[in-house]
Amino acid sequence: MIYQLSQFAFPDDPARLFPDTPGREWYLEIGFGDGRFWPPFAATFAQPPNYLGAEISGSSLQKAQARLKKAGLTNAHLTKLPATVLLAAVIPPASLDAIIVNFPDPWPKKDHLDQRLLRAPFFRLAASRLKSDGAVHFTTDHEEYFEFACCEAQESGVTRLELAPPPAAALETKYALKWKELGIQARHARFVSVAEPHALAATLPRPDIQAMPQEDAALPHAIVNLPPQFDLSDFAKSAVHTPGYTVVLLDAYRSLRRPEYTVLAHVEEGELTQEVLVGVMQRPDGSTLVRLAKFGGPVITAGVKAAVAAVTAELVRRGAVITHLGY
Ligand SMILES: C[S@@+](CC[C@H](N)C(=O)[O-])C[C@H]1O[C@@H](n2cnc3c(N)ncnc32)[C@H](O)[C@@H]1O
Repeated sequence: MIYQLSQFAFPDDPARLFPDTPGREWYLEIGFGDGRFWPPFAATFAQPPNYLGAEISGSSLQKAQARLKKAGLTNAHLTKLPATVLLAAVIPPASLDAIIVNFPDPWPKKDHLDQRLLRAPFFRLAASRLKSDGAVHFTTDHEEYFEFACCEAQESGVTRLELAPPPAAALETKYALKWKELGIQARHARFVSVAEPHALAATLPRPDIQAMPQEDAALPHAIVNLPPQFDLSDFAKSAVHTPGYTVVLLDAYRSLRRPEYTVLAHVEEGELTQEVLVGVMQRPDGSTLVRLAKFGGPVITAGVKAAVAAVTAELVRRGAVITHLGY
């Protein structure tokens, strides 16, 4: 199954994600690319562990899903999400047996080093989600990134380094084959967790993410009274920046049938980005409801609430009067 962020619980439960194999080990693969690693690696176990793959590029998702299906791996799911969002919001503390990272993007330029995944904050987050003896399994062709990751892991203070040859399946991925052709050797390390995961998790910020509520009334909203001849035809793009999020109101669309609008907003919160729609709808009593639309399955975050607030503020700037705030 391919999970959207909105289909997860925050945090989720492995017994819910893998109802047929609840007691098995749980492996997370970050950046699975076209998904060549897991089927041969899973075949090395008598009982394949439960598997969740996270990838930010949508283009290989279907290919990876087809490989899992062909291998008959029913306890393997994929999601198109940045790894740190998945780890922080979805994966509960002390639940993973291993995190696999094969050939991560090396970001070789000096001023791009902070884009690398395997930095000290990642190791702390990973160690809080791994069981006490769980490990990050890292394979790379990039010698300098290898040394960098080992230093960052040591700086994190929550891992012990174990060096080993890479597993055979890691040498058959798309990127492994690319480097093998060029004669470049892969390096492999296991960063074994030495932290107490629950205690470590308690020191990390908890992401403010809520699933879509069942009740429409629980969606972030406001009720306003619009002035006569209200019109949004000169709507202009605008942005709100705070340390926690950026909200950009990109455009407004008018209904053909009623004097109602939908505003498209882009919301960025760290690595999590969402495009959300905010409806501006007439109510039977003549007032106007400004409310997050369920379309696209958004998850409710501080930034998404701020998008509803930004649309409301835009209406107030045009003469609307707020009668109720629900965000
Ligand atoms: C160099 S490719 C390696 C792909 C695959 N592991 C292989 O060996 O063929 C790195 C992959 O990591 C993915 N990626 C980069 N940052 C990520 C993140 N924060 N979360 C999940 N995937 C990520 C990229 O989209 C890309 O597919």
